[in-house]
Amino acid sequence: MAIGIGLLGSGVVGGALLRRLIEDRQALGARTGLDLEVRKVAVRSVDKARDFTIPRHLLTTDPEEVVGDPGVHLVVEVMGGLNPAGELVRKALRAGKAVVTANKELMAARGSELLDEAAKTGVSLLFEASVGGGIPIIRPLTETLAGEPLSRVMGIVNGTTNYLLTRMSEDGAQFEDALHEAQAKGYAEADPTADVSGSDAVAKAAILASLAFGTVVHPAQVYREGIEDVQAVDVAYGATLGYVLKLLAIADKAEEGITVRVHPTFVDSSHPLAAVRGVANAVFVEGPEVGELLFSGPGAGGGPTATAVLGDVIDAARELLAGPRVTPRVRFGPGRIVPFEESITKWYVRLRVLDAPGVLAAVAAAFGQADVSIKSVWQEGRGDEATLLMITHDAKEANLRAAVASLADLDILKEVAASIRVQSDEP
Ligand SMILES: NC(=O)c1ccc[n+]([C@@H]2O[C@H](COP(=O)([O-])OP(=O)(O)OC[C@H]3O[C@@H](n4cnc5c(N)ncnc54)[C@H](OP(=O)(O)O)[C@@H]3O)[C@@H](O)[C@H]2O)c1
Repeated sequence: MAIGIGLLGSGVVGGALLRRLIEDRQALGARTGLDLEVRKVAVRSVDKARDFTIPRHLLTTDPEEVVGDPGVHLVVEVMGGLNPAGELVRKALRAGKAVVTANKELMAARGSELLDEAAKTGVSLLFEASVGGGIPIIRPLTETLAGEPLSRVMGIVNGTTNYLLTRMSEDGAQFEDALHEAQAKGYAEADPTADVSGSDAVAKAAILASLAFGTVVHPAQVYREGIEDVQAVDVAYGATLGYVLKLLAIADKAEEGITVRVHPTFVDSSHPLAAVRGVANAVFVEGPEVGELLFSGPGAGGGPTATAVLGDVIDAARELLAGPRVTPRVRFGPGRIVPFEESITKWYVRLRVLDAPGVLAAVAAAFGQADVSIKSVWQEGRGDEATLLMITHDAKEANLRAAVASLADLDILKEVAASIRVQSDEP
């Protein structure tokens, strides 16, 4: 029996998927034993010029037609955004159709509700491509590692920002120059806000944390700081201290609960994530039994992302043929989300101070009063001004902020020029 497939969208990802479903139909059948037949494709504009010409009889501008077509057993949502994608996915699941989506925004905001809907009708809702593009990470978390009480998932989940930071660290580029170059090369959108502000990474962090720890983490519960204010000078200072700067999505689970955050982070130059360059993505997973795992590869692009979507389509099609109901792969239970102020990390702090006796003692005293202990300090004088670089030991977020705020009272301080979190296994 042929499995009828309907596509909601045929852009960068949908177009690459459609080409393979149509051109490789025989080869896919030979490999998988499945006959996957595209029966409807919804787009916004029927007349738009496309890399892959969609057969006219498949096209519609009404996405409801795809979801309502009795010949469509499996709906692939690659239109993006929350609306109307969310309601279309819900309707498809309610009608007993399997759904595959690449939409991180939707899965981060409404994933648990939609997975419940899928469980009620006993169909699959698969979303491998929603995080890390072509990198298999959702299936490892929900299947291969389903029995592992994971303690950490940490990754580079946005290619644009990784490209910008790579240019800044390897070539000394300033943020604005790197951004213009990335836009010219097609690595950054004309409006790069979602990427550079970290909000794209927040959606992915919420999905990864929810799956890794089995507790729903909403994007609003993820701390976010982008890379807009990162200065090339700090990237360079970090390098001299043995660190590489990355925008990391970090989800930790400890006795106190779950912490999920996205922010610029110095990692040890020996850490596997430090070697992930350019637009590549990588996710590092840690568990008590399995140890450390690294998943890396192309985090975006039509071809790689369509490979992940196609894998889900094949999986969902097999389940449709196997029987009337699918056992849900994902279950969520209770769990405490730790308020961000309580989270603990090391810090890099750069201060501009007067080059005067007693400066170091005054700064150390202010940090000590806020219960932040300094691990190491470097001082570099320039005329009557000096730069003070400090690395702290593990400190509570709230304490570090209090320490930095209290520096404002010191006459010797000119500016707290930078404060960047450090993820290091060194004591
Ligand atoms: N691009 C990537 O590298 C990548 C990687 C991972 C995940 N994703 C996710 O994959 C999804 C699709 O991304 P994309 O880059 O392929 O987007 P895209 O190129 O903008 O394609 C969107 C498609 O949806 C259609 N569409 C949008 N709104 C519609 C509506 N209301 N009714 C009918 N059709 C509509 C568009 O029609 P027209 O063609 O007529 O405009 C287009 O074909 C998003 O959720 C994205 O986050 C993308």
